[in-house]
Amino acid sequence: MSAGTSRYSAVAIFLHWTIALAIIAMVPLGWWMTDNLSNPAEASRVFRAYQLHKSIGLTILALSVLRLLWRLTHRFPPLPDHMPGWEKAAARISHILLYAVMLVMPITGWIYVSAGWNSAMNMPFAIPTLWFGLFEWPHLPGLVEASNATRSAAASASMSVHESLAWGAVALVVLHSAAALKHHFFDRDSVLAGMLPLVRAPRGANPAADRASEQG
Ligand code: HEM
Repeated sequence: MSAGTSRYSAVAIFLHWTIALAIIAMVPLGWWMTDNLSNPAEASRVFRAYQLHKSIGLTILALSVLRLLWRLTHRFPPLPDHMPGWEKAAARISHILLYAVMLVMPITGWIYVSAGWNSAMNMPFAIPTLWFGLFEWPHLPGLVEASNATRSAAASASMSVHESLAWGAVALVVLHSAAALKHHFFDRDSVLAGMLPLVRAPRGANPAADRASEQG
């Protein structure tokens, strides 16, 4: 963060938008592929969709770990002073929940594929994960060799969380986007602009930055 502005760093902005767009694409992709799983006309596209889903999802996991580490080791713009205490608390809780979605969604997907068990048909179903077709992503250790009962339990528990969290992710993204738009258009502060690469904060949101631009 630079003095006199409420801008996020280039790294934080890059990670934020890459992860956000990927998650927004992943939910309909996940719904489409599971809806078409038993549609023979779509068999080859469904297989590619599963591999793409797993590849993007594991990339989200890696980027989310990076983002969390970045968040914990760098200073970030504080929430604006005009926000009442309850709104600041709500913002912090929703940010923690978003981090939980970013980490738990991919981890439960990874547990599911590592268990090698089809929970809908309740039978073994081991398919390798080919990361964007480049190399085989390893399964989580311990699960592949476990008993059928353990693999079946791990698969159905992880997929229940995965499916339910998809709705949680949709709700959180809608809430988070609505809050960002409220900051920009109603509160006219610099919260959204600080996370956008080329957008300036509304005039008056950050007097120090306004003065700097008036002086050239
Ligand atoms: C943020 C990341 C992710 C999001 C938002 C996401 C979202 C979804 C959604 C919406 C579904 C459909 C659920 C339903 O049937 O109602 C799904 C299914 C699935 N996901 Fe993910 N996913 C993510 C990461 C992953 C990862 C990393 C993997 C595996 C490495 C994975 C593996 C799967 C599998 C195998 C299914 C289908 C399970 C079945 O056939 O019943 N997902 N995902």
